Amino acid sequence: FSPKVLANTRVLITAGPTEEPIDPVRVITNKSSGKMGYAIAKAAFEAGATVHLISGPTALAKPYGVSSEDVLTARQMHTAVMRQAKDFDIFISVAAVADWHISNYSDQKQKKQGQTGLHLEFAPNPDILAEVAALDKGPWCVGFAAETENLSEYAQAKRQRKNVPLLVGNLAQHVMSADQTTMVLFDDKGEQALPILAKTEAATALIRAISERYFAR
Ligand code: C5P
Repeated sequence: FSPKVLANTRVLITAGPTEEPIDPVRVITNKSSGKMGYAIAKAAFEAGATVHLISGPTALAKPYGVSSEDVLTARQMHTAVMRQAKDFDIFISVAAVADWHISNYSDQKQKKQGQTGLHLEFAPNPDILAEVAALDKGPWCVGFAAETENLSEYAQAKRQRKNVPLLVGNLAQHVMSADQTTMVLFDDKGEQALPILAKTEAATALIRAISERYFAR
């Protein structure tokens, strides 16, 4: 980036999936490689920002220059984000956070012998993005939404419900685990589709779009 469009800006990013334990050897998770969030962290650093990445489990190497911490569950991610959100100017919530955790977690491995099925009970996880967006003097927030249909309608409704100035929508079937992405930006002026780009290039385009909106706020 020249000029460095995020110089002197502190950016907090979540990325990857979260995993919710069933027992000590089994988890339920969301499908997310972490590629998009890591690419955004790298692009933000290259744009001059101080970047902290809170990551669920991924197979990826942490981007150069970015501080990071690893979490497993949504509740751990929530604790890590809420502890420091107010220290940042921008929060980019890329993680595919599990909406539920298993409330009848067993601390012993569930044996399949003699069982006809496994009965799981779910309890809701906190909505990290919505909570950060509701903070007094909190960071400027960017959300993501992967939908399988009705992208415009669902994404704009989600942006308003979570009360975030910018929400990035994409069609899940096109982007999951892929190296390319299609992004549509939703803000209070409407929607703007970006071309199909490699996730690394999309991250650069998104950082430009974020900096323009953040400094014009
Ligand atoms: O509601 P939905 O999960 O589709 O919203 C997606 C956006 O909200 C993403 O930015 C995601 O990181 C964030 N989110 C969150 N905490 C949750 C669920 C979603 O921060 N429990």
